[in-house]
Amino acid sequence: MQYNVVVIGSGPGGYVAAIRSAQLGFKTAIIEKYDTLGGTCLNVGCIPSKAMLDSSEHFHNAKEHFKEHGIDIPAPKVNFTQMVKRKGDVVKANVDGIAFLMKKNKIDVHTGVGSFVDKNTIKITAKDGKETTITTEKVIIATGSKPTPLPFAPFDKKRIISSTEALELKEVPQHLIVIGGGVIGMELGSVYARIGSKVTVVEFLDSLIPTMDGTMGKELQRSAKKLGMDFYLGHKVTAVENKGKEVIVKAEAKDGKAIELKGDYCLVSIGRRPYTDGLGLDKVGIETVKGQIPVDDHLKTKVDNIYAIGDVVKGAMLAHKAEEEGVYVAEQLAGQKPHVNYLLIPGVVYTWPEVASVGYTEEQLKSAGRAYKTGSFPYKALGRARASMDLDGLVKILADKQTDEILGVHIIGARAADMIAAGVTAMEFRASAEDVARMSHAHPTYMEAVKEACLAATANRPIHL
Ligand code: FAD
Ligand code: NAI
Repeated sequence: MQYNVVVIGSGPGGYVAAIRSAQLGFKTAIIEKYDTLGGTCLNVGCIPSKAMLDSSEHFHNAKEHFKEHGIDIPAPKVNFTQMVKRKGDVVKANVDGIAFLMKKNKIDVHTGVGSFVDKNTIKITAKDGKETTITTEKVIIATGSKPTPLPFAPFDKKRIISSTEALELKEVPQHLIVIGGGVIGMELGSVYARIGSKVTVVEFLDSLIPTMDGTMGKELQRSAKKLGMDFYLGHKVTAVENKGKEVIVKAEAKDGKAIELKGDYCLVSIGRRPYTDGLGLDKVGIETVKGQIPVDDHLKTKVDNIYAIGDVVKGAMLAHKAEEEGVYVAEQLAGQKPHVNYLLIPGVVYTWPEVASVGYTEEQLKSAGRAYKTGSFPYKALGRARASMDLDGLVKILADKQTDEILGVHIIGARAADMIAAGVTAMEFRASAEDVARMSHAHPTYMEAVKEACLAATANRPIHL
């Protein structure tokens, strides 16, 4: 079979690249080693984790907040089997949707491991060992990433687990020890904290979600503590041992003080690493650097007809970043002049309250020596937040001191994940804080906090504070 474009990997990078390629008139194929399409994001990442976050938040609200809203129900109980089953149904609906989109766009789906024979020939090895070979003009590698293990404690998938197993447990842990207080640690940690686990997070750095603006980490820790989560920040894990029904985690603070934690599960969420196993990169002379496939500014590898996108290349490991890159490469192949604005790829943590950010953090502006001003507005001063009892959180706007151009939008609070799109829009159009402050925002909404924070950033004139 002869194609214009072959995409290896069907995650959000790969399937989007395939759809856009087909839309642009290329004869396109996609190769996926698993039986379902959608990659990490749809099968074991974004979608199942959000399904569990939503279910656990419903339970938490029923248990903690219904009474105050005037809804009396018998004490709710967790039916964990049903919770996990519903998550599976949500995943199935999504991955089936991708299969439908492949058909609709006349994209050939090849199931099996794709590996280079040469720069225009790809071998597909099915589970039963059957091999097929296809040829193509262009190749887009979108093979994604896998969880990073601790060097001294590999995943045993029973007690020492990654996010993949944490989404498929058969029971609610009694005590879940989470190593790494980043996005996965906080999202999945909060799921289990809400449904009854004791959750302890051990984080190497001094802040949670340390790549985000420092204020966000502090506020998130405060709200997570209300859920009963415990934290050991600035702790280096020295040992993790599976003792059968128990797992023991040892860690050390900077002053050398040692701690020992006993739990029944240990979730290791210390980041993900790019995945290129079995791809046969050596056949085309591509060498990885720190696991990543090196690409130029046009996402082209050192081989003229081979491109790479998503988690397997540099940049944020996010589904929507991978999608943007998929569209970028396809449009470029069609002779268009696409663009990805990496500064404006938003980052979201789907805890409750949610955390969402775009642009520069205050720490980045400080270290770049850029003159900036800030404006903040707390959720507790919003009528909408009082009505829903979502009082935790704030909006923080960073703007250039001279020009007033918005440089960063950082939100922790209810619906932050959806609200951040307004920050992206404002920054894409290079709005000033004054521009946003002068736009009418519907009342009562959480978005009023963005307007008020912009008022605070411009001559400190919030109305409701
Ligand atoms: P992937 O989605 O990893 O897909 C790569 C695909 O390639 C896989 O299906 C793999 O089987 C296949 N493959 C690999 N090698 C071969 C081969 N040789 N032949 C054939 N197929 C191959 N991001 C967000 O933006 N929002 C979120 O809410 C979010 N939540 C997450 C929650 C969790 C628990 C995790 C783990 C991740 C989450 N992410 C989230 C990150 C997101 O999943 C990734 O950034 C995204 O999936 C990357 O897309 P990709 O296309 O680069 O790779
Ligand atoms: P992460 O990079 O978000 O967090 C890892 C955390 O572990 C960091 O805080 C780091 O300081 C800490 N750490 C590293 N080594 C450690 C050690 N030895 N001991 C203790 N702490 C250690 O990575 P995470 O949470 O594993 O997620 C992987 C990727 O998946 C993220 O980069 C993210 O892009 C993506 N993801 C995105 C989500 C979203 O967009 N909502 C949700 C989940 C994952």
